[in-house]
Amino acid sequence: MPPYSREPTATAIYWLGHYILELEMLSKSLEDALNTQLHLEFESSYVYLSMSAWFEWKNMLGFAKWMNIQRDEEQFHASKFYHFILDRGGQVKLQSLQQPRWEWDGPIQVFEAALEHEMLVTKSIHQLVDQAMEERDHAGFTFLQWFITEQVEEEATLTAIIDQLRMVQESQSGMFLMDKELGARAAEHPMP
Ligand code: FEO
Repeated sequence: MPPYSREPTATAIYWLGHYILELEMLSKSLEDALNTQLHLEFESSYVYLSMSAWFEWKNMLGFAKWMNIQRDEEQFHASKFYHFILDRGGQVKLQSLQQPRWEWDGPIQVFEAALEHEMLVTKSIHQLVDQAMEERDHAGFTFLQWFITEQVEEEATLTAIIDQLRMVQESQSGMFLMDKELGARAAEHPMP
């Protein structure tokens, strides 16, 4: 090759490739944080399954169905994190699930516990977004935007249900109608 050729040398190509790869790689700390969130989504699914079982045990089958569909939603969220970690070249590290709560005083208490849980998830998503921003991980930042919107929807839905339950709490027929209404929920992301 002539001394002043504009052709890139093999060494230059190697280092350029290495540099691009470094830029696109998921950092170890973000990989860990995404795995923590993956775990939290699986735990959410388990929490909703426990709530669904409690409602079914009380023969409130509409509430049970609503909770079971929410369980599937959480599995869908978990699968989004699972695939994102792998698509970015990271490693998925599954953890064991904590035993969820299985006893409540009534439907309002179950939905209040669900809202409290979702507020914890929202906080965790916001921390993840902060971390992706600090690390200038643009793909991670974009991926997480969907979850910010999703958390707003989930908290708003639960707050509305709690408000309605408080309105009818002394009325058995009101509670019966709410059970029917929530039982009409259709699955958005049914699990196979
Ligand atoms: Fe995946 Fe309900 O948060």
